[in-house]
Amino acid sequence: MTPPARVLVTGATGAVGSAVVRALDAAGHETHGVSRRGGRGARQHAWRIGQQEQPPGLRGPWSAVVHCAGDTRWNLPAERAEAANVGPLRALLAATGADTHFVHLSSSYVTGLRGGTASEAPEDYRNSYEWSKAATERLVHAERDSADIVRFPIVMGARADGFLDRYSGFFWLPSSMCSGAVPALVAEEKGVMDMVSTDDVADHVVRLLGGGPPAGRRLTVLGRGDRAQRVDATFDTVRDALNSWRTAHGVPPLDRLPYVAPEQWNRFYLPFAEEHLDRGQLTRITALRAYQGYLSVTEPFDVTDRVADTAPVLHRSIRLWAETHEASARRIPRPWGT
Ligand SMILES: NC(=O)c1ccc[n+]([C@@H]2O[C@H](COP(=O)([O-])OP(=O)(O)OC[C@H]3O[C@@H](n4cnc5c(N)ncnc54)[C@H](OP(=O)(O)O)[C@@H]3O)[C@@H](O)[C@H]2O)c1
Repeated sequence: MTPPARVLVTGATGAVGSAVVRALDAAGHETHGVSRRGGRGARQHAWRIGQQEQPPGLRGPWSAVVHCAGDTRWNLPAERAEAANVGPLRALLAATGADTHFVHLSSSYVTGLRGGTASEAPEDYRNSYEWSKAATERLVHAERDSADIVRFPIVMGARADGFLDRYSGFFWLPSSMCSGAVPALVAEEKGVMDMVSTDDVADHVVRLLGGGPPAGRRLTVLGRGDRAQRVDATFDTVRDALNSWRTAHGVPPLDRLPYVAPEQWNRFYLPFAEEHLDRGQLTRITALRAYQGYLSVTEPFDVTDRVADTAPVLHRSIRLWAETHEASARRIPRPWGT
């Protein structure tokens, strides 16, 4: 596909979709974006995919559709996760011609607890997000002879400055570390936390489109793989980034959090917490529970496309988060049990 080609990007106001739109524009394509609420600019449109008819102005043919729309929340009830992730994909596939190069964005965590996407059983996945994303991959396989599926792990900001259009998911962590809502690191000692930059995903999509539709269904997996940061190193990077900002702004630095193994946490700390903590703290603790699986991945992902080091990207992203969330970043952790 040579520029300028007409490309539709869904989820175009999101963390990943925004970066994809910018990269496609920079590559010379005529890029149109859709999101639920629509974005700024003439080529940004509102379309609640799966809930509303496709607006006439968005009918194809498109040279390529890059499907970035999704709901990354891990704690939705199964039927809501399905409606948020599977329903829109089904509607989009139905509205997209078979000749269009279809690129579906997925997650490295989609292989759940069994190392694959074949199972339809929720218990084979860590949460309803993974389960619903696995269903999206199966749907692409069922509906398309040719398509790209791109998996990647946790997304940080731009490589140059850590910029993100939207903060979600992972950023509960710096916020919770500053407020003291996370009392301990509940993680496997040898856990790995793989990350990519939005640039890695966006540049990859541009390359895929440049090469044209694949002969069949092609899976690529981005990440650091066996060179991903360990969980402890990741937390140190987050703390260093926060402390560099806090020190520069006259706020006392954060102490290192104690490590607790997940099993120990669930058996001893959580029952105690449930008895002694206030509602705000408990809400955070419940959120932390949803993330435990992610902090306990000890097998690196098998990557097909290894990205450059992401530790500096994590540092820049957290530092920029602090700059843009000053009130949260300034907080003094509240001691537990009081
Ligand atoms: N962020 C990560 O760490 C991460 C990691 C691995 C994989 N992924 C995958 O990457 C993709 C993008 O994630 P993200 O982090 O960029 O998400 P995000 O920041 O939460 O953005 C989601 C985007 O999708 C749009 N959207 C959601 N449902 C829609 C619908 N039914 N119709 C139209 N637009 C809809 C949203 O529109 P509104 O703004 O109007 O609501 C928004 O533009 C997802 O498929 C996700 O599974 C993300």
